[in-house]
Amino acid sequence: MNDVTLIAIMTFGLEAVVKREVQALGFEDVRVSEGKVEFDATLADIPRANLWLRSADRVLIKMGEFPALTFDELFEQTRALPWEDWIPREGAFPVAGKAVKSTLGSFRACQSIVKKAVVERLRQAYATDYLPESGPEYAIQISMLRDVATLTIDTSGSGLHRRGYRQQAGEAPLRETLAAALVQLSFWDKDRLLIDPMCGSGTILIEAALIGRNIAPGLNREFAAESWPVIPARLWHDARADARAAIDQDSVLQIYGYDIDESVIEIAHSNARLAGVGDDIEFAQKDVKDLWIDQQYGIVISNPPYGIKLGDFQEMNQIYISLHKTFRKKTGWSIYILTADKKFPDYFKRAWPDRVRKLFNGGIEVNYYQYYGERPPVP
Ligand SMILES: C[S@@+](CC[C@H](N)C(=O)[O-])C[C@H]1O[C@@H](n2cnc3c(N)ncnc32)[C@H](O)[C@@H]1O
Repeated sequence: MNDVTLIAIMTFGLEAVVKREVQALGFEDVRVSEGKVEFDATLADIPRANLWLRSADRVLIKMGEFPALTFDELFEQTRALPWEDWIPREGAFPVAGKAVKSTLGSFRACQSIVKKAVVERLRQAYATDYLPESGPEYAIQISMLRDVATLTIDTSGSGLHRRGYRQQAGEAPLRETLAAALVQLSFWDKDRLLIDPMCGSGTILIEAALIGRNIAPGLNREFAAESWPVIPARLWHDARADARAAIDQDSVLQIYGYDIDESVIEIAHSNARLAGVGDDIEFAQKDVKDLWIDQQYGIVISNPPYGIKLGDFQEMNQIYISLHKTFRKKTGWSIYILTADKKFPDYFKRAWPDRVRKLFNGGIEVNYYQYYGERPPVP
């Protein structure tokens, strides 16, 4: 049972970023579809994927995939899968479900059929009528898409965006997984200057610092599969030891975060310390209209307040005008702005964006406006 198929799931729009992350972990045959990236792995890769994937929401084990047009088919095929390979007699196995564009349209009905089928399989495998479900959790998901059922077990537990460092947040904080994706979609690397002039609780900058120092984002948290007897504790221990050894202790990062609100700057600083990158980011209270840039090259990644949740039109207008004034002649700066406000390019007129990516932030459709600057000369 050393070979498994893993599925990393992510917010729509982040598939390409997660694909690259999975490839960077050494997997070659990586299959991408809407909201998921699939790859073949071994048991030891379950800790690695959970520790290292920055932009994925969860890592799931794919138990099976088959067409199911009737509840009988769903039941029989689910029961035919080797659930006992993973779930011990006392394992708890809640079942969640979703059904999209499928004959078996009721996800509740699918859920309860799957639960019954797994119960029957495990009762038979353990020759018992009683499954106490008092042990570690094996969260099963049945996902019906166009009459094809995919059955998975979640290895992550709480979502991978929970790195453990964000004890407090400002208003409308970005998900850590999305923030990591924004950084990875930019031209930033650890040798370049990075500014977030409206950094809130500092998520983008903290994720950048973790990337810059090659710190595995999951190093300070636990995962559901850590309590599964089927994965030897040694594999988790080794993956953590390797991740610690991989940390870049030497690079000097140039990362700066500003916000008009003094209290969120304190939060950002404290989050950065918890993430282990407190010395890598300089935070200060500053209104974006007072931002003064004298370096020729650099990167801005930011998500300004946008109407729906924060700020009002005038406030946003003022921010856009300030950004425009500061950066219109700074052609060595790449500017990346995440906002739901489709008017942003009308105000920031250095040029038309080189690329606009549609992403989702907490269910809200947003655009990631990318303005490429000239690259600094190679020293
Ligand atoms: C959407 S939030 C940023 C959230 C942040 N990315 C995070 O993950 O916590 C926008 C931030 O812009 C800040 N802001 C609003 N007006 C500003 C201004 N004129 N200058 C600087 N920051 C401002 C707000 O205080 C808020 O923290």
